[in-house]
Amino acid sequence: MAVALLLAAGLGERLGLGEPKALAELAGRPLWRWSADVLLALPEIEQVVLATPAGAEGESLAASVPAGVIAVPGGAVRSESVLLALRGGAKGGVDPDSDPDSLVLVHDAARPLLSAELVRETLVGAARNGVDAAIAATPVTDTIKQADGDGRVARTLDRSGLWAVQTPQVFRRRALERALDVEAEVLAQATDDAWLIECLGGCVVVVPAPRENLKVTTPVDLELAELLLARRAGRALGRS
Ligand code: CTP
Ligand code: MG
Repeated sequence: MAVALLLAAGLGERLGLGEPKALAELAGRPLWRWSADVLLALPEIEQVVLATPAGAEGESLAASVPAGVIAVPGGAVRSESVLLALRGGAKGGVDPDSDPDSLVLVHDAARPLLSAELVRETLVGAARNGVDAAIAATPVTDTIKQADGDGRVARTLDRSGLWAVQTPQVFRRRALERALDVEAEVLAQATDDAWLIECLGGCVVVVPAPRENLKVTTPVDLELAELLLARRAGRALGRS
């Protein structure tokens, strides 16, 4: 059994809708509901803690969450939202007296194409002996170059062995708590909690994930997600 922390507290500035990204309408539902419903349907997930955006929109979202979801106000940066969701506020969250090896799943609500299969594979990856975290990722398919501020290419990286990291990311409770117990400036630098575990010398493993599990960042991502969700709905109805 695991607790899932669903991060939905971001502003969505790059999407540019003038409302928090989690509330953007996607195929008839708010974006955050797609991954929330996948998590809620899984018997392996005992509770979902949703980090909500600041302001009136976040408050009305918090007031409307379905059974099985606890809403807590998120933080100014992503890792702070993870920390606040982990604590869960007065309503619960992850029990600090629970088994330190128990599993905590972190997922970005900005990835609405989460599948139950990927959640299960990531949970299994993190439950392996000696593993502190298992993270969904895809092998890099583009050639990656490093350039300076003027756009002058300094070098080309060897693509083999490079992975583009996604969520879900699953952690041993103790490892995640230790990793988040750092100065606010370090928390602010972390675009990925697994990095904080790596900094402490912890064992992080990648779990191959489909590219379909995309992150909605810009308007074109929202269009793509809409198309992919429509295809998924068609499959569920038996259309190919
Ligand atoms: N997130 C969060 N709390 C923050 C910042 C981000 O919970 N303070 C969440 C977002 O809601 C999102 C995920 O972290 O689900 C990934 O962040 P990102 O894609 O950067 O989303 P936003 O921060 O909302 O977008 P932007 O950076 O364009 O403003
Ligand atoms: Mg952001």
